Amino acid sequence: MTQQTTFSLEPNPNALDAATRDALMRDPAFGRVFTDHMVTITWREGQGWQDAKVTARKPFSIDPACSVLHYGQEIFEGMKAYRGADGAVTLFRPLENARRFQASAKRMAMPALPESLFLEAIEQLVRIDQAWVPHGSGSLYLRPFMFANEVFLGIKPASEFIFCVIACPVGPYFKGGDKAVSVWVSENYTRAAPGGTGEAKCGGNYAGSLVAQNEATANGCDQVVFLDAAEHRWVEELGGMNIFFVMDDGTLVTPPLSGSILPGITRASVIELAREMGMVVEERRYSYPEWEADAKSGRLAEAFVCGTAATLVAIGEVRSARTRFAIGNGTAGNTVKVLRDRLVEIQRNQAAGPAGWVHHVAL
Ligand code: PLP
Ligand code: COI
Repeated sequence: MTQQTTFSLEPNPNALDAATRDALMRDPAFGRVFTDHMVTITWREGQGWQDAKVTARKPFSIDPACSVLHYGQEIFEGMKAYRGADGAVTLFRPLENARRFQASAKRMAMPALPESLFLEAIEQLVRIDQAWVPHGSGSLYLRPFMFANEVFLGIKPASEFIFCVIACPVGPYFKGGDKAVSVWVSENYTRAAPGGTGEAKCGGNYAGSLVAQNEATANGCDQVVFLDAAEHRWVEELGGMNIFFVMDDGTLVTPPLSGSILPGITRASVIELAREMGMVVEERRYSYPEWEADAKSGRLAEAFVCGTAATLVAIGEVRSARTRFAIGNGTAGNTVKVLRDRLVEIQRNQAAGPAGWVHHVAL
């Protein structure tokens, strides 16, 4: 299948009426309210990508022996569409998501979806479900994913895959909005090891993180921070976000892309914007003992998490089985606010940013 792919269009005959949709969009929280349609494209060995469709959002019919149910050969992406004050709809750096999707596919022995087809699928869904892109501070979260759909219990890469995109109008990821969150540092469970799948956005990484997230919740924390697998010492990332530290001299520190953390598009954007604003950014290893000592001495001024779903949110408190300490006075500091405002303004097309970051969807 090439760039000329045509998508067959079967609009949802039961699409929600405007009043019902607006009621659902009033306070959608994150990930529970879905739009009327979905896009699917199938890949078959020897045939490639085919059967691109825009249809009503509906359940898949999956054989109990479908390989993804047994071996988890699945990857996904997360990106947002924003509504501008003029009504236009834009995507933020969507080709970065397309490229990461290809990188994840490669790591998981899955076929590469051409970037142009990835983007076209996203645009098709945004176009048909454009009424679901919130006005105001919300956004339309897009979830492209791909899974193995061969009916076979032998362990091998599947011979058939389904690529799909669904969408949901969302508000803040955290209940407290921009309020600082508390994090639990997991000293027992790790997320990803060298040579593993940490830098791929595959479902298994998240499945493996849930027991640690439960531990975080049981200890009154919002999120879990993972340390490296070899030494249980170096801060890596959270279950669904990257992490930054702000030193008292204004330097930003973030763990390097070691192969075991997700190369976040928000992370890359924050690094670029911070440097543009004259800040020094160091991509270097930062240990948990260093974090604790710096927070206690005051050398660490702020810390924050970042990702598409979360945007930028301050970390107010850190806990582990052994320790508990606050960062600054436990509330969001100035650096996180300045960086978040700058990023959000660009994402929402309210201010010009680096060339090519904002992609207009033809509605
Ligand atoms: N790290 C993990 C494990 C994630 O799931 C995400 C979210 O996508 C991120 C980091 C942040 O990545 P991005 O900024 O591209 O959303
Ligand atoms: C995203 O930010 O897009 C993610 O996939 C992470 C998750 C916390 C929803």
